[in-house]
Amino acid sequence: MTKTICFFLNQEKIEIELNEGGGLRPDTTLLNWLRERRKLTGTKEGCAEGDCGACSVVIGRLTSDNTPNWQAVNACILFLPMLHGSVITTVEGVANADGELHPVQQAMITHHGAQCGFCTPGFVMSLYAGWCAGMDFTNVAEIETLLSGNLCRCTGYGPIVSAGEALARWARPQWATDRVLGDISALAQMAATTTKSLDLKCQGQRYSAPASLEELQTLYAENPSAQILSGATDIGLWVTKQHRQLPHLIHIGNVAELDSLKKTDGHITIGAGVTHQQAMEALAEDYPALQEIWSRFGSAQVRASARVCGNIANASPIGDLSPCFLALDSQIVLNKAGKRRQIKLDSFFIDYGKQNREAGEFVEAIILPRLQAGQQLLAYKLSKRFDQDISAVLMAGCIDVQAGKITDIKIGFGGMAAIPKRAMQLEAYLKGREVSVFAGEMDAKLATDIATCLSQDFDPIDDMRASRSYRLLAAAQLVQKMFIEYQSGYMRLSKPQHFRTPEDFTATVQA
Ligand SMILES: Cc1cc2nc3c(=O)[nH]c(=O)nc-3n(C[C@H](O)[C@H](O)[C@H](O)COP(=O)(O)OP(=O)(O)OC[C@H]3O[C@@H](n4cnc5c(N)ncnc54)[C@H](O)[C@@H]3O)c2cc1C
Ligand code: FES
Ligand code: FES
Repeated sequence: MTKTICFFLNQEKIEIELNEGGGLRPDTTLLNWLRERRKLTGTKEGCAEGDCGACSVVIGRLTSDNTPNWQAVNACILFLPMLHGSVITTVEGVANADGELHPVQQAMITHHGAQCGFCTPGFVMSLYAGWCAGMDFTNVAEIETLLSGNLCRCTGYGPIVSAGEALARWARPQWATDRVLGDISALAQMAATTTKSLDLKCQGQRYSAPASLEELQTLYAENPSAQILSGATDIGLWVTKQHRQLPHLIHIGNVAELDSLKKTDGHITIGAGVTHQQAMEALAEDYPALQEIWSRFGSAQVRASARVCGNIANASPIGDLSPCFLALDSQIVLNKAGKRRQIKLDSFFIDYGKQNREAGEFVEAIILPRLQAGQQLLAYKLSKRFDQDISAVLMAGCIDVQAGKITDIKIGFGGMAAIPKRAMQLEAYLKGREVSVFAGEMDAKLATDIATCLSQDFDPIDDMRASRSYRLLAAAQLVQKMFIEYQSGYMRLSKPQHFRTPEDFTATVQA
């Protein structure tokens, strides 16, 4: 057990003791600490809620198999003790000590990637994360995904994307590579530190970060009123926007046993420590339809911090993964003091803010069935903006067709009720039908029946994301779209294509 947080900041070892007499609360954000304590004001505050990317810094960590991993994260919603055992680079640490600019900085200048400059440090850090991770900068779609969590109100994104593309052609200076190697040895040096759990008490707040599953089970069972903290992409906003007092946080991010994604012939088990980014990469072949959902989930920064199980445990009616996992008929594993319960996900969501979870019980994992022959999962997200936006409606359907008949179908919806919910009336109506009846233009009676079933299944609300009537209409049309795509075997592009030249367009269409 230790009371000292240890991490590296721009190659400098930082050790901060948080004890009763100390001046820092554990929920101090990295952004506030950088700007107010360290006077590193290059990292900007735009929104303080993870949306704009102006506060992006790069975090390096060792994964559970000891591979170094570099990602941009939003410093505004990351609490200082969550950095324990990591290396952090801010915009002040990107250039060489002698002042020579790093290629990511020089590319932004050469390609006129800044006007007022407020967003620029954030863009530089996102590009730097890609550079450290050895990303393929020839792929424009990947650059756009990398930068989708950085907003710019004045330059326009074209020059910034061009700066990213230039990195594919520019040499990698030795000093910059050596610095990454230095960061990797810093991570190895701290590896022993992170195996010790943290227990910090400061200014009336307690922060525990157990290092093993056994310790977590005991700690939470003994302190059931504590708040479980995983990636803080929800909880960070409770602090920065709602100024909530959280007397005891239990961070699960250092529990190695939870950082595991296992595949067997029949199932995939995602532990509570697995981030959206890790799951997105690992499950690309298993569930192609989830790739678009994941690539539009928040931003690269959000996906790097947020955990898959956090998105289920928060039971948000507009969470993106719950409807998809409902369609897959997933199971959730709950753990209280080491006693495990495995229940169907649809029995976990009871009502708004109410889940089938006892005091002291936490989500240990989610278990997804693998798709069998004849089964297909399709999923659609509707939001006002393509990237980095919360869904107005999200629909996922898992269709099982044997000998031309729909033998089973499960359809999950988000944004249609107070909880993520299956469309049971509609499922019952569709089961047993010949799938060929959905081919071509949909029969008017079929379309009306689908809309009627949905209005029996759901009573959606009007809010700023969509009206009730839009939600019902969109839901019915998404069901139709799902069958059209099922029939045609049409695979959507994971991103809309942006063509720079007519030749690009022609080449893509011909391909
Ligand atoms: C800018 C931005 C964009 C976003 N975009 C999207 C989006 O496109 N789609 C979407 O669905 N969501 C989105 N979110 C919401 C959020 O990122 C997700 O819900 C995320 O998966 C939450 O996970 P987390 O690990 O950050 O949870 P945290 O913030 O750490 O916790 C969230 C809640 O879950 C509880 N919890 C977490 N893990 C466990 C566990 N293992 N057991 C018990 N309780 C637990 C916590 O106590 C807390 O109540 C966005 C958030 C931000 C800030
Ligand atoms: S300040 Fe906007 S994402 Fe952090
Ligand atoms: S350069 Fe002004 S906000 Fe991007």
